Amino acid sequence: MSSEPAEPAEVPEVSESVKPPGPGRRSFLRGIASGVAGGAVAGAAGGYAYHGSGTGADQAAAANLAELQGRLPAVPFHGKHQAGILPEPKAATAVISFNATAESRAELTELFRTVTDRARFLTAGGTPPPTGIGGPASDSGTLGPTVVPDGLTVTFGVGSTLFDDRYGLASRLPAHLTPMESFPNDDLDPAQCGGDLILHLTAGHEDVVLHALRDIARNTRGGMQANWRIDGFSSPARPAGTVPRNQMGFMDGISNPSVTSASQMNELVWVQPGAAREPSWTAGGSYLVVRLIRMFVEFWDRVDVYEQQTMFGRYRDSGYPLDADGIYATPDYATDPEGNVIPLTAHMRLANPRTPQTASSRILRRAWNYDRGLDPVGDLDVGLIFTCFQQDIRRQFTAVQTRLIGEPLVDYISPFGGGYFLALPGVVDGNDYYGRALLA
Ligand code: HEM
Repeated sequence: MSSEPAEPAEVPEVSESVKPPGPGRRSFLRGIASGVAGGAVAGAAGGYAYHGSGTGADQAAAANLAELQGRLPAVPFHGKHQAGILPEPKAATAVISFNATAESRAELTELFRTVTDRARFLTAGGTPPPTGIGGPASDSGTLGPTVVPDGLTVTFGVGSTLFDDRYGLASRLPAHLTPMESFPNDDLDPAQCGGDLILHLTAGHEDVVLHALRDIARNTRGGMQANWRIDGFSSPARPAGTVPRNQMGFMDGISNPSVTSASQMNELVWVQPGAAREPSWTAGGSYLVVRLIRMFVEFWDRVDVYEQQTMFGRYRDSGYPLDADGIYATPDYATDPEGNVIPLTAHMRLANPRTPQTASSRILRRAWNYDRGLDPVGDLDVGLIFTCFQQDIRRQFTAVQTRLIGEPLVDYISPFGGGYFLALPGVVDGNDYYGRALLA
């Protein structure tokens, strides 16, 4: 069976209305007001507030409005599944691992409710509430007086360590959740692995991602503590209409299951109700694997393009498989059993041999580039934030990664961090919150 090309997920046009958090909701940082005043921003074109007077200010405001209108519309927060899982990568992302520091199950529940409230507000946008004289502002102000949605998605997940003896959750451990394994080519840094909780933010601009992180961190202080973090970016597709590239120069994300096919998503991505050994609360969630992979780009740039292409199985410039002439063409491995055109060791051939036996191991991949400047010896510290979603880590990610052991690409990359998580089921409405069925 062959993979279908990825199709862009639909991004809804309008933001949904937002309720301020309920009265009496505890904020982990006392003295910080959480919530919104004035309701939601009214969509990408309509609801931004501008302040200023005089012609110069008006012109500046008009220019600013034009800029803001180019920003992405809100992605509805409520739904059966979390809204950040299916869409194509947006320009900016941050992946942040936290350890839970809540002191009881009740505090942990409060933490999850607070994360929900903040995510609901931030993804819709709106005007933060005014604060009285003498108190800290309710918002960092880094996006100006009105918080723009800019396509922000907040994906929240749990790691296996949350199910230890602290919160009485041991019997609710998801069936396939374990600490991340180490594979033969890995060089894992424990300080950049695992975590009780994971937050995956994506938006159209870096400032929106960072604003969301600051907002969530300040409102959850005392309930969770950041553990490791990585920021990433996805470039525009070049040429337009193709697929963004990774830092090895190749398009990354061409072959994926179809996110518009409910049957494929139910077979490959979403944990199904009644799944064997799965606690019922996991239904609608999805296992998230994060792998932080350094690329030795100085070394890679000395390899000739022909050899690079045989390592992946695709042309660098066009993204076409080496045996075909279309970006989404299906490589024909059956007529090339010896690997004369696409080597048997090519990354894409090992990752997805396109046989009936391997069809159930397909994963939904999402890749971002990272750039952390220089390493201690002055080499570029760049690479890939590899994420994938699946129904069962062992059947899918582990099977794919195991087939990739020893591939030629391993000389040019080094996985150093990441973790295994369960992205929680979606928050269905204004009364629901992340993990309600887990914590109830
Ligand atoms: C730095 C590390 C990696 C790089 C540079 C890389 C790059 C690529 C490229 C260029 C492609 C072909 C284009 C496409 O279909 O998107 C691809 C495909 C793929 N990669 Fe990776 N990848 C990396 C790591 C991984 C890892 C860790 C996994 C999973 C364990 C993985 C699984 C896949 C799969 C499943 C495909 C699609 C194969 C197909 O259906 O034809 N990749 N990757």
